[in-house]
Amino acid sequence: MRILIAGAEAAPLAKVGGLGDVLGALPHALARRGHDAVLIIPAYGSILGRVELHSYGALDVRKGGGEPIPTNLLETWLPSPRGDGLAVRVLLVEQPWYFSREGIYTDPVTGNGFADEHERWLAFCMAIGPACERLGWSPDLLHANDSHTGPALALKALRPHPALRRAGALFSIHNLAHQGWYGRDVLRFAGWDPDWHNDSADPLEYSGGTNFMKMGIVCADLINTVSERYAYEIRTDPELGCGLEGLLAHRGSDVRGVVNGIDVDLWNPATDPLLPAHYSLDDLSGKRVCRDQLLAELGLRPAGENTVVLGMVSRLTAQKGVDLVIGALDHMMRDDLRVVILGSGAPAYQDGLRAIEARHGEKFRVLIGFSESMAHRIEAGADAFLMPSRYEPCGLNQMYSMRYGTVPITRYTGGLVDTVVPFDPWRGEGCGFHFSDLSSDGLLDAVGRAVVALRHPESRARLIHNCMIQDFSWDRAAGSYESLYHEILARHRR
Ligand code: ADP
Ligand code: GLC
Repeated sequence: MRILIAGAEAAPLAKVGGLGDVLGALPHALARRGHDAVLIIPAYGSILGRVELHSYGALDVRKGGGEPIPTNLLETWLPSPRGDGLAVRVLLVEQPWYFSREGIYTDPVTGNGFADEHERWLAFCMAIGPACERLGWSPDLLHANDSHTGPALALKALRPHPALRRAGALFSIHNLAHQGWYGRDVLRFAGWDPDWHNDSADPLEYSGGTNFMKMGIVCADLINTVSERYAYEIRTDPELGCGLEGLLAHRGSDVRGVVNGIDVDLWNPATDPLLPAHYSLDDLSGKRVCRDQLLAELGLRPAGENTVVLGMVSRLTAQKGVDLVIGALDHMMRDDLRVVILGSGAPAYQDGLRAIEARHGEKFRVLIGFSESMAHRIEAGADAFLMPSRYEPCGLNQMYSMRYGTVPITRYTGGLVDTVVPFDPWRGEGCGFHFSDLSSDGLLDAVGRAVVALRHPESRARLIHNCMIQDFSWDRAAGSYESLYHEILARHRR
């Protein structure tokens, strides 16, 4: 199949969170299964100059009023991290006015979304058809991801570009909370007359405005989210459905769950070049080295017999339950724990964590910023990993943790339910520790249970073993996407 995967991020070119990891890995997994999978993302300024680029020249992309949007089509190839000689073609839509600036979603100066974000995503989506035409390549499937590319499916449904007319459409929801909800007038930018689209049944109308996520949901042949549990939650729980639960329920069995995979080549403790020592189930001694070095590197008090090291790598947002951690840390510091948090986000959370560090500098470190290599060192050096998310469509870090023999402590929500089997000390089964109550006490309870288990040599060994034998590789998830694509094409044939 020829599959065009469109989205706002793809690692290693552009990454803010898990969407980048997913779009960076899925095309490789599809290519390994013999498909012609091509990625299309914006050519952010941060990408240009970092990779070798081929130019296909200017594309004709115009605003509704006819005014041209300067657009070039660039191409690069991403080699497979498996080193199997395969590479994925990446199309980069260069629209300097919209994407050469710093920042992917948020303006680094204000910390808020860009004021013209609707124009940025519309302009990008409007370039997808012309990009395919320029290549002389028509996809069988257009696989759009999250609200940023919802308009691509609306354009395909309402005003299809010839290069996309025959393509089936899959829409993947990675985070329903970020919907792209704007005033109706933004439709004019893409040449739609708001007065023609003012009925709530119209894909372009939403509560008197317009909503890019709704466009994707209504116009896709099939929709998936990134775990079964989240697929259920967003149809049944108004808080998690974020206003779209009715629409999602209406699409019924067209809404599926496919749990993300992880790139087991990039995240492999036996070979990871970012770690100070390597380890595997057969020889775990390197994990201890990673732990000692992490504490030393961060100037934390060295670990003793009973010490348990907790890690967290996260966007510092309400979604991730950072407030629960802040409320629990003083209490945790009474025990023989070390806690390391890497993240960036809301200034209030950053300040809250720094204030705790000022009180407990020997046992707690917060690193504000984005660091791929530190993320790997925390995954390897920690004994347990905190993910107290309010909601979590899938979550990748719990899977990275398990692969690194690091026990996940997770809230019972979304993909965390689907991927973390609770530890049963009597049977010696399971991998992690859940809590349901959305409070610091709930988190503390789960941390307490994890710490007891990790201090006991037998259950510790069991836990590490159970974590490390899990298979979260993309092969399974890519197979599920393949089935969705086949189903869509079969519908089209009918
Ligand atoms: P989300 O996409 O909601 O942020 P995920 O768990 O799916 O959550 O994915 C987060 C990804 O982003 C992981 O690869 C994680 O390691 C990475 N990440 C988040 N914050 C940072 C950071 N400050 N530094 C390095 N990596 C980070
Ligand atoms: C979103 C979700 C996260 C998911 C990621 C990749 O950012 O918050 O749970 O793992 O997308 O699908």
